Amino acid sequence: MTDTIYVLNGPNLNLLGLREPEIYGSATLDDIAGMLEDRARELGVEVDVRQTNHEGHLIDWLHEAQAEGAKAVLLNAAAYTHTSIALLDAIRAIKVPVIEVHLSDPKTREEFRHLSYVGMAAVQTVEGLGAQSYIVALDAAALL
Ligand code: DQA
Repeated sequence: MTDTIYVLNGPNLNLLGLREPEIYGSATLDDIAGMLEDRARELGVEVDVRQTNHEGHLIDWLHEAQAEGAKAVLLNAAAYTHTSIALLDAIRAIKVPVIEVHLSDPKTREEFRHLSYVGMAAVQTVEGLGAQSYIVALDAAALL
């Protein structure tokens, strides 16, 4: 096992900062990556922050996390959270613990966001804290 924590981000999160800031805040994904790198340094771990708009890439990266012996994965699968049985299966297929992350609190939003396939397999969920959700999740991952 390495001390690397993968931080995987799904569709439309490349638009953070511009995208519905009243819901997701004004921080860009680069800002969040910077915050994570600073916190990782304090915690003595490494973060590998990635974003894709493609479901299969998230699945490949989960497999890679396993193959590379990552310590944990923070996963904000964005809308795929609510639709992807393939992601649920991928999380169940690997031994690396996955922490589900959301900026907003999907459970207080539209009903179609209440179901989380990711949450069915994740060891923990951190949501509703804006960019801080990632930091709280990183702190939790470092203790795993
Ligand atoms: C999100 C919540 C999802 O419902 C939504 O589809 C997203 C972002 C969040 O971080 O709050 O794209 O994962």
